[in-house]
Amino acid sequence: MFVNFRRIRKWQFVQLMTACLVLSVVMVCWEQLDNHVISHAKSYSYRYLVNRFTYINKSFTISREQARSFSSFPYLLDHPDKCVDKDVLLLLFVKSSPGNIERRNAIRSTWGNESYIQNALGVTVKVVFALGTPPAKKAGLSCSTGSRVCFQEQLAREDRLSGDLIQQDFLDTFHNLTLKLILQFHWMHSRCAHARFLMTADDDVFVHMPNLVSYLQDMSSRGVTGLWVGRVHRGAPPIRSKDSKYYVPFEMYQWFSYPDYTAGAGYVVSRDVADKVYQATLTLNASLYIDDVFMGICGNAIGVSPQEHVYFSGEGKAPYHTCIYDQMMTSHGHVEDIYDLWKAATHPQVKQKTTGLIGRLYCTAVKMSLLCKPYYLNTYPCKAAFF
Ligand SMILES: *[C@@H]1O[C@H](CO)[C@@H](O)[C@H](O)[C@H]1NC(C)=O
Ligand SMILES: *[C@@H]1O[C@H](CO)[C@@H](O)[C@H](O)[C@H]1NC(C)=O
Ligand SMILES: *[C@@H]1O[C@H](CO)[C@@H](O)[C@H](O)[C@H]1NC(C)=O
Ligand SMILES: *[C@@H]1O[C@H](CO)[C@@H](O)[C@H](O)[C@H]1NC(C)=O
Repeated sequence: MFVNFRRIRKWQFVQLMTACLVLSVVMVCWEQLDNHVISHAKSYSYRYLVNRFTYINKSFTISREQARSFSSFPYLLDHPDKCVDKDVLLLLFVKSSPGNIERRNAIRSTWGNESYIQNALGVTVKVVFALGTPPAKKAGLSCSTGSRVCFQEQLAREDRLSGDLIQQDFLDTFHNLTLKLILQFHWMHSRCAHARFLMTADDDVFVHMPNLVSYLQDMSSRGVTGLWVGRVHRGAPPIRSKDSKYYVPFEMYQWFSYPDYTAGAGYVVSRDVADKVYQATLTLNASLYIDDVFMGICGNAIGVSPQEHVYFSGEGKAPYHTCIYDQMMTSHGHVEDIYDLWKAATHPQVKQKTTGLIGRLYCTAVKMSLLCKPYYLNTYPCKAAFF
């Protein structure tokens, strides 16, 4: 009896130790688990089961006077006549930073070359760069003194040559990206309201301009309105981990999930949507600094939902292949390769190789092998192979 009792105690001790071990592992890993699994489970169920986010609009609404503080920065560089007297198919804003002159030059001589677009594609597309002011001592611009005046002079010189910088007097930082978003919609409203579409893109995005133009011409000829298209995030949870670049405190956003939004790397809206977003920004609290999420809040406030297009990439880089070039719209993360990619993607051979029954069958097979992998590929989805 006594021996038995000791055995049970020993057995219980082992159980207790195991429980403690499991518990401490869970406690140590809880944050990871919470960030990656639980917050997503919560946000997806919230997005799909619970509600339609109607209260977000209300909780972000502030007075016009208060909202003006997000848009009243004076312009330091501007081109009020950029769109005058022209039938502009697309106004394309590239979100750039003062130091990224090389990226801007690469865009100007590849996919963003306005005269190429006019001559080769027969439409007017205006490509402009949205900038804030350089934070002091930021590397990238070669001002040996590191002074802000010197940076600004360099920007002015660049702008005299290219005439495409739109700069407002706010610090160009990650946490001011929403101010840059507001700049774009306000600039369109006052300077280019007749453009049929507005696109916003990062300066490391590759835009397949011929494909995009023919898509937009098609949309325009069908009189499409209410368009907001890109790579859509549905049911994304706010990141509560303070180490993350995308950290958002509870006070700034209280719910389990963001409203649907398109990845900020590149998306397009039609003129009517651009105007409604402009109107919405006049009464919304824009202190939520993640610009694409803020765009989701604007979409929520105006009752417009984003649409998915399989050939808009979010964070991902498209595979290099003729069959991809035939249909791609945007691809993210291109800096050094942009010249080569532009040459390859617009080569006349792309169309030759991908048309006809044989070409189409070949491309479907190639795209399946490139995009339909059992593990997560951060590029176009598998269904793009059949598009
Ligand atoms: C833009 O394209 C035109 C041809 O249409 C070319 O003459 C010009 O050099 C290009 N611009 C740049 C900056 O590469
Ligand atoms: C945003 O820009 C304003 C105006 O220049 C500046 O006062 C503020 O510090 C900037 N905010 C961030 C987070 O950089
Ligand atoms: C806007 O929201 C922030 C929190 O995200 C808050 O601190 C601020 O007071 C709000 N502004 C107005 C005018 O209500
Ligand atoms: C959002 O709020 C504004 C003003 O508070 C209101 O005019 C608008 O109808 C609301 N939008 C939706 C989709 O409920």
